[in-house]
Amino acid sequence: MNKKIITITGAAGNIAYSLIFRLLSGNIFNQDTKIQLNLLDVSAVLPVLKGVKLEVEDCAFKQLDSILITDKPEKAFSDSDFILLVGAKPRSKGMQRADLLIDNANIFQGQSKLINENAKKSTKIIVVGNPANTNALIIQNYAKDIPAENISSLMRLDQNRAKSILSSKTNSRVEQIHQLIVWGNHSATQYPDINNVLIDGSNQKILGLDSDWVSNEFIPRVQNRGAEIIEHRGKSSAASAASAIFDHMNSLVNGSNDWESMGIMSPNSYGIDDQIFFSYPLNITKSKIEIIDNISLTDDSLSYIKKSEKELISERDIIKDLL
Ligand code: NAD
Ligand code: LMR
Repeated sequence: MNKKIITITGAAGNIAYSLIFRLLSGNIFNQDTKIQLNLLDVSAVLPVLKGVKLEVEDCAFKQLDSILITDKPEKAFSDSDFILLVGAKPRSKGMQRADLLIDNANIFQGQSKLINENAKKSTKIIVVGNPANTNALIIQNYAKDIPAENISSLMRLDQNRAKSILSSKTNSRVEQIHQLIVWGNHSATQYPDINNVLIDGSNQKILGLDSDWVSNEFIPRVQNRGAEIIEHRGKSSAASAASAIFDHMNSLVNGSNDWESMGIMSPNSYGIDDQIFFSYPLNITKSKIEIIDNISLTDDSLSYIKKSEKELISERDIIKDLL
């Protein structure tokens, strides 16, 4: 039997309440691999975590090895194979994700040092807590012994949203849509890019789209979907975020035969500043993540991408004293 240790922070929160169950029922790993879950949250909600643990046990998941619940990050990160950094404040109505920066940056700074000391050096870290890309930069800055390529921030929710909206518009099924990518920040400046999309191997339906719909409906709808959910639910997305974390992690473990989007440390590809976590188009195999080079960009695309880069640089400026 193999065992993987998966740490989830913010484990008593909304996203975790979907994520834990999706991970344990979803077969990311082969049948011989069991999962040890290390669930971390703050002391005040340890009773809630206890309740979550009881419910997980009640599911009798075949893949479950054991569950640790704790308010001690050093225990939670000990020997982790995967660390899902969800624990952070969510925004409420009227806020931008960057408004969370100061509050959440301290959480990520503190945890990154403990990750460095306690997790496996090969651990894969997925940053979800907002603003996810800049929090990933904080993690990379302090968890110096973890290779930067093992750290990524969640953009899959944006990619999934874009795919779903495009599938309705084009009367296609989501699995027929390929090469849909999202560039930049997980924020209202992100750029969902359909210029390379193939639907059933063809770009005919994309060429047939009204450019006004793309610029004035599709792109802003995807960019602002998080706020739209908050407007309706009164709380930020949780089940769809959990589903996207599952998809992101599945791509890291099993690779993907489609183009994917994740926030990764920019290596200056496409001329993007090299000290920010930026969402690029990626080819992901079991062993590596590679940026898809040589995508030709229109002037419009470049201007969206540069705007998002600028925002990430300004987020970095806000936390520069921490770096
Ligand atoms: P939530 O408030 O329901 O849960 C957050 C949990 O984190 C709480 O239980 C809280 O006690 C815990 N927490 C706070 N500080 C902690 C610490 N230092 N260590 C461990 N746990 C800590 O929020 P949620 O809806 O689960 O969202 C969590 C984060 O994910 C938010 O920042 C939200 O904005 C973000 N989010 C990101 C994406 C994305 O696509 N990147 C999508 C959805 C939500
Ligand atoms: C989302 O995209 O739904 C999350 O980042 C939550 C938010 O604040 O929008």
